[in-house]
Amino acid sequence: MDSFDGKVGVVTGAASGIGRALAAGLAAEGMRLVLADVEASALDAAVEQFRSAGHTVEGVVADVSDRAQVEAVAAVAIDRFGALHFAANNAGVAIGGPAWELTEADWQWVLGVDLWGVIHGVSVFTPLIIEAGGGHIVNTASMAGLTSTPFMAPYNVAKHGVVTLSETLALELAMLAPTVGVTVVCPGWVKTGINRSERNRRDDGAAADAEPAADGAVAGGIDLRSTIDGLIATGLDPDDVAAQVIDAVHTRRFSVLTHAGWSSLVTRRAERLVSGDQPELVLPAND
Ligand SMILES: NC(=O)c1ccc[n+]([C@@H]2O[C@H](COP(=O)([O-])OP(=O)(O)OC[C@H]3O[C@@H](n4cnc5c(N)ncnc54)[C@H](O)[C@@H]3O)[C@@H](O)[C@H]2O)c1
Repeated sequence: MDSFDGKVGVVTGAASGIGRALAAGLAAEGMRLVLADVEASALDAAVEQFRSAGHTVEGVVADVSDRAQVEAVAAVAIDRFGALHFAANNAGVAIGGPAWELTEADWQWVLGVDLWGVIHGVSVFTPLIIEAGGGHIVNTASMAGLTSTPFMAPYNVAKHGVVTLSETLALELAMLAPTVGVTVVCPGWVKTGINRSERNRRDDGAAADAEPAADGAVAGGIDLRSTIDGLIATGLDPDDVAAQVIDAVHTRRFSVLTHAGWSSLVTRRAERLVSGDQPELVLPAND
């Protein structure tokens, strides 16, 4: 997309972190936005701040794991602004722990938001962007979509799904609707609220014992909460990620790997998969 000025976009998970920074960057270039998030109080605060900065935004409380609520987000874009040119399927949550100890509710929650949320966004928003004559779709995956870090199985499964969904979508749109671009975002650690994802968990599993990223929970000798807190604290600023994403949308690049030093992990993983060697244990830092 050359210009965002006057265009209409949707950002999910817009009340915090990467989504909020991306929305701010898009709004600063003149895009009118529907900000969607499940956390009503944080969304209200974001909407108020965007409006007081002079931006044109609507807020919609929506859980992206529910298709009907994603359709309601699209309806606000069409009813209020008349068209849709851009969608960032960004909302996400994380949980930690050994794959066999996580409950079915844990898996359902993470896959519901991180994978089904993106599937719903692709399904609902893509036809509208095609109808508008073109635009761009951004899906937030993660380096967890290109590697396999231990104690993050549901997150890894969801994010690998988002990467291949995005690749497939890009190929299909190139054949069927080439005016619509696709970008998949694969950040390393970023300074956001992701390690407090359970604040937005609504299912019964929220109170379950298996909340492995809770304070003091240990897996493989690692205190997951404090280890990840430490990595996030030294991570990239969300504004840096947003700037990289916006540049990729303007220049129509497919993938954004925000942490240059992590790219070799992807190459090494592919080599090991081809050779049959055991997976390599990597706990990446922030270079
Ligand atoms: N922070 C990191 O280190 C990191 C790294 C790689 C990828 N990511 C991805 O970035 C994306 C944004 O996360 P973030 O790091 O900014 O975290 P964040 O917690 O700051 O923001 C996530 C937002 O998603 C919202 N959300 C959660 N569940 C939702 C639901 N069911 N429906 C709608 N909204 C919901 C939250 O309320 C929150 O506002 C996620 O997809 C995450 O997986 C983050």
